[in-house]
Amino acid sequence: MEYTTLGDTGMEVSRVCLGCMSFGTSDWRDWVLDETEGIELVDRALELGINFFDTANMYSAGESERVLGKALDGRRDEAVVATKGYFQMDESNPNSGGLSRKAIEQELDDSLDRLGMDTIDLYQTHRWDYDTPIETTMRALDDAVRRGKVRYLGASSMWAHQFAEALHTSDRLGLDRFATMQNHYNLLYREEEREMLPLCEKEGVGVIPWSPLARGYLARPHADAETTTRGETDDHARQHPYFEGGGREVNERVEELADEKGVKMAQIGLAWLLHQEGVDSPIVGTTSVEHLEDAAEAVDLDLSDSELAYLEEPAEPVRVSGHE
Ligand SMILES: NC(=O)c1ccc[n+]([C@@H]2O[C@H](COP(=O)([O-])OP(=O)(O)OC[C@H]3O[C@@H](n4cnc5c(N)ncnc54)[C@H](OP(=O)(O)O)[C@@H]3O)[C@@H](O)[C@H]2O)c1
Repeated sequence: MEYTTLGDTGMEVSRVCLGCMSFGTSDWRDWVLDETEGIELVDRALELGINFFDTANMYSAGESERVLGKALDGRRDEAVVATKGYFQMDESNPNSGGLSRKAIEQELDDSLDRLGMDTIDLYQTHRWDYDTPIETTMRALDDAVRRGKVRYLGASSMWAHQFAEALHTSDRLGLDRFATMQNHYNLLYREEEREMLPLCEKEGVGVIPWSPLARGYLARPHADAETTTRGETDDHARQHPYFEGGGREVNERVEELADEKGVKMAQIGLAWLLHQEGVDSPIVGTTSVEHLEDAAEAVDLDLSDSELAYLEEPAEPVRVSGHE
């Protein structure tokens, strides 16, 4: 496995991160693994040298964090653990979501409890909170770092102007700033190349794209898009504009290049992302040990400039998707 320094944190992460949205309970989503299978995947990830794991309080309503914590029991120091907060956890409690000081302090403590850890390596805001001033959020997050509950701060999908404001606010107040951006970025969705990625590059922010395989649509021909349980039932996948613009042709070119090189389509999709300037570690989602092994192998897959250009050529602008 190859490692890279995550943004300006000085912390080393594997070039592939294992996304844990598919761990917890199938009561949450049909395609989610139970505890035993989740632990098996984490064990195999560690064997492959993958040391970076991303979860969120909302995945399986907290069960994903619990499974990840259990899987890492006794091996905590080997892993870089990232989680997120923002989405409301309890329908009857309006303060169980958002990024107010009250919500952050409570939700962070609940995440630590479920993970069974004293500290989270990377604590991320899942979305922008339009009801809380960014200054309040950044002060509460900075306090979490000072209290030793969190090592580094990160953010997930938002507009670039909002991220710039958050970074500027921390700098102005002398607070810890966001060290990473977890954004929606893959070969079928490239709108982040306009504003967010250049901003991250300029600010030394690490980039860890979510849904790097377009929720599976980059891992199989478009005619087969809905042939898996997740493909059939994942409404989010259908909402993203993956097959708009030149998406279908990109998908065909991924298949063609994969055949030519004797590798899997998923490996072409991941290798393309790993060749993009500024991308540290795509967060791969999988429920299969074999697919996890594919992802680890993709780190060594070299694509030439002309192959990269061939894959990119059909892309056309599409509507923004992933944050609102
Ligand atoms: N911050 C956010 O708002 C946000 C949003 C979405 C996701 N995330 C994070 O990103 C992670 C990944 O998201 P995602 O699951 O949507 O990502 P993804 O990696 O784009 O897609 C996962 C899908 O690809 C399939 N797949 C993976 N490797 C494959 C292979 N080698 N061959 C064939 N199919 C393959 C998986 O099927 P199998 O299960 O069969 O392998 C699964 O259906 C999540 O776990 C979460 O941590 C964050």
